[in-house]
Amino acid sequence: MRLLFIPLLAVLLAALPGAATAAADISAADLYQPCAACHGADAGGNAGLQAPRLNHLRPVYILAQLDKFQRGLRGAGGATAAAQQMAASVSMLPPPERWPDLAGYISELASGPSTATLAGGDAAMGGDYFNQFCGACHGPAAGGNVALNAPALAGADDWYLAAQLQAFRSGQRGQHREDRTGRQMRNMARVLPGEQAILDVIAFIRSQPE
Ligand code: HEC
Ligand code: HEC
Repeated sequence: MRLLFIPLLAVLLAALPGAATAAADISAADLYQPCAACHGADAGGNAGLQAPRLNHLRPVYILAQLDKFQRGLRGAGGATAAAQQMAASVSMLPPPERWPDLAGYISELASGPSTATLAGGDAAMGGDYFNQFCGACHGPAAGGNVALNAPALAGADDWYLAAQLQAFRSGQRGQHREDRTGRQMRNMARVLPGEQAILDVIAFIRSQPE
């Protein structure tokens, strides 16, 4: 027994670290490959697929959202079709210990600003709304605030900002009991008086440097 056991153990011990190294050897660029199909190779987004730009986001926010999608706090039943599609894509994620590498890689990618798809927003009006209702959390120039979990908005696609504000307002995002930061933002999105105010505030955000 003992003679059989020891070599077997030795083989196992030799194999285990090898396997772990192989997993860790996959580059962050390779981890991102399946995501690129929707979000683009430079993470600049794809409006046709409703997949937003990601490279303006900080890793800490990317990690928080991936965790929400995986746990069903975002993108579960009642969410928009786009959010449900992202929730279904979490199966493409590497093991959690590699998520920081993946998020770091995404935030290092660069792309030009996305094309404007919305017209009719008044950036000056939007600036007033933003200072009054948004800047305290997202920063005066929409650069985000890590301590408050508020993401950067400058650099985001205009269509995505509009879709998220609508989703928060209708309760399709930020409705889960455990989604504390989502619920916080849902309440704030409802403060904007209407469609024109949404266009205005987005025009202001888009006027800010990334
Ligand atoms: C099938 C297309 C598809 C694939 C593949 C996909 N995504 Fe997404 N992703 C989306 C869509 C659509 C959204 C927008 C969800 C919404 O509107 O709420 C999104 C949203 C996100 C967000 C939230 C962005 C924000 O500003 O809150 C992150 C982060 C993200 N995806 C990361 C990833 C990563 C990392 C991968 C690869 C493991 C990936 N996605 C694969 C379609 C996809
Ligand atoms: C009390 C703090 C707070 C205020 C005020 C606030 N937000 Fe937010 N906002 C957040 C947080 C936190 C999140 C991240 C939610 C999450 O984790 O899902 C967020 C997310 C968002 C998103 C989604 C970004 C993305 O990448 O998916 C948009 C768009 C947004 N806020 C716009 C606004 C606008 C416009 C206003 C003003 C009307 C505003 N916020 C006011 C805290 C705030």
